[in-house]
Amino acid sequence: MNDHEWIAILDFGSQYSQLIARRIREQHVYSELVRFDTPAAELARRKPSGIILSGGPSSVFEAGAPLADPGVLRLGIPVLGICYGMQMTARMLGGTVSKGKSREYGRARIAVADHSSLFAALPSEMDVWMSHGDQVTAMPAGFRTIAGTGTCPNAAMADAERRIYGLQFHPEVVHTPLGTDVLKHFVFDICGCSGDWQMAQFAKDAIESVRQRVGDSHVVCGLSGGVDSSVVAVLLHKAIGKQLHCIFVDNGLLRYDEARQVEETFGEAFGIDLHVARAGDLFLSKLKGVTDPEQKRKVIGATFIEIFAAEARKLGDAQFLAQGTLYPDVIESSSPIGGPSDTIKSHHNVGGLPKDLKFQLIEPVRDLFKDEVRAVGRELHIPDYIIERQPFPGPGLAVRIIGEVTPERVAILQEADLRVQEEISRLPNHRDIWQSFAVLLPVRTVGVMGDCRTYEDVCALRVVQSVDGMTADWFKVPYDTLGAISNRIINEVRGINRVVFDISSKPPSTIEWE
Ligand code: XMP
Repeated sequence: MNDHEWIAILDFGSQYSQLIARRIREQHVYSELVRFDTPAAELARRKPSGIILSGGPSSVFEAGAPLADPGVLRLGIPVLGICYGMQMTARMLGGTVSKGKSREYGRARIAVADHSSLFAALPSEMDVWMSHGDQVTAMPAGFRTIAGTGTCPNAAMADAERRIYGLQFHPEVVHTPLGTDVLKHFVFDICGCSGDWQMAQFAKDAIESVRQRVGDSHVVCGLSGGVDSSVVAVLLHKAIGKQLHCIFVDNGLLRYDEARQVEETFGEAFGIDLHVARAGDLFLSKLKGVTDPEQKRKVIGATFIEIFAAEARKLGDAQFLAQGTLYPDVIESSSPIGGPSDTIKSHHNVGGLPKDLKFQLIEPVRDLFKDEVRAVGRELHIPDYIIERQPFPGPGLAVRIIGEVTPERVAILQEADLRVQEEISRLPNHRDIWQSFAVLLPVRTVGVMGDCRTYEDVCALRVVQSVDGMTADWFKVPYDTLGAISNRIINEVRGINRVVFDISSKPPSTIEWE
């Protein structure tokens, strides 16, 4: 990976560390978080163009506060310390850090004293985001103050000779509107990066590195048809062809026709060795009588592992298991200090495989953010209907059928949901929608069709916009579209005679109904 220019971020546990990586990658410069205590010799070997020391929750005064290898500051590679990273740098080089009287948290306005480096061509005053207790009160030898505020006179420091810099504020967050410009000056002017990192290159490198790692061995990969596992499967297939064996568990709880599409796209069009476990009946029999949402999840999770393990055993001697772990998963599951760890989040479907299945993990997109994975998918010619797919919960339609899940109710919901998808996809702005789906309620109401009285189910529409699924707002679906969805479901789907629209936001509601 590091044959190309890159920026190393030593991670001291800030909640913003991955944002720094993201901002830099947006400039087409590869950037990666590494442990805060990565030895200078290792960095010298991996040759980053620049090193960023992230912020973190610690104070340099705490016993056991995480410290970088002091050699990092002597490599001759440009260094930028942010917040805690600045304080630590100042202290290691002989400056003074003082405990703040109170924590400064929020917006501040800096006055720029020196426009020659990080602040080149930027205004003399800028809004920035501060979040700190301690601050640098005396510069180490060779450093100058390049920006300050009333309460934090040394808000930025520079030693142009050694190319070591510090920022007390956070340039990576949106509340520092010109923060990206500051980072750009570091990355391009100071570190000399050219910004030629492209997804095509990433895909090429990833394919080559999988090929080398796997050699003659075989790899098992769980394919769900979602974006991440699809990209991983196709990437691996490009790398090792028939040594890749994908397992697709059809749990009978997928959207209308989805199982067939997955088989057709990956098995037929891409020619991947795809093992389909048609387990709908088993899942549904295990869900019989289960109405509690968490119990549904447990049953489905355990059944998935059981079937996946059985399929994997049939494949014999595969040594590797490929997973679509993404960068945010890696960061989320790492300890607050210490940088990325190898823990697999429990929500990862194959995290709990039985002990006899000892695989080495292959996670080719673990350094990427979701939108970057999509870009790799496009490079690999994965069709748009897969790349653009909305998130879909592992337990599938089971958590969209309130109450007991029966084969009949799954079929009704699939039909209703199909109408929702078709009508929503006609909206010019349908890409702004995070998720849109139907929910089948355990409520029957009276209706009239022709001359007959009906007594059938109610279906709810859920359409939300969101950035990450953590918060969400209901999407203002045009009345005409709502009308079309309602008409089509009531006229075309037997078993539903009423459609309602969910206008709740998250929080306090959740996106899924269960
Ligand atoms: P909620 O309903 O918690 O959903 O607002 C947030 C996001 O997570 C998805 N979701 C799940 N995904 N297994 C999954 O893989 C689950 O059990 C699960 N529950 C919710 C949901 O679709 C939304 O995108």
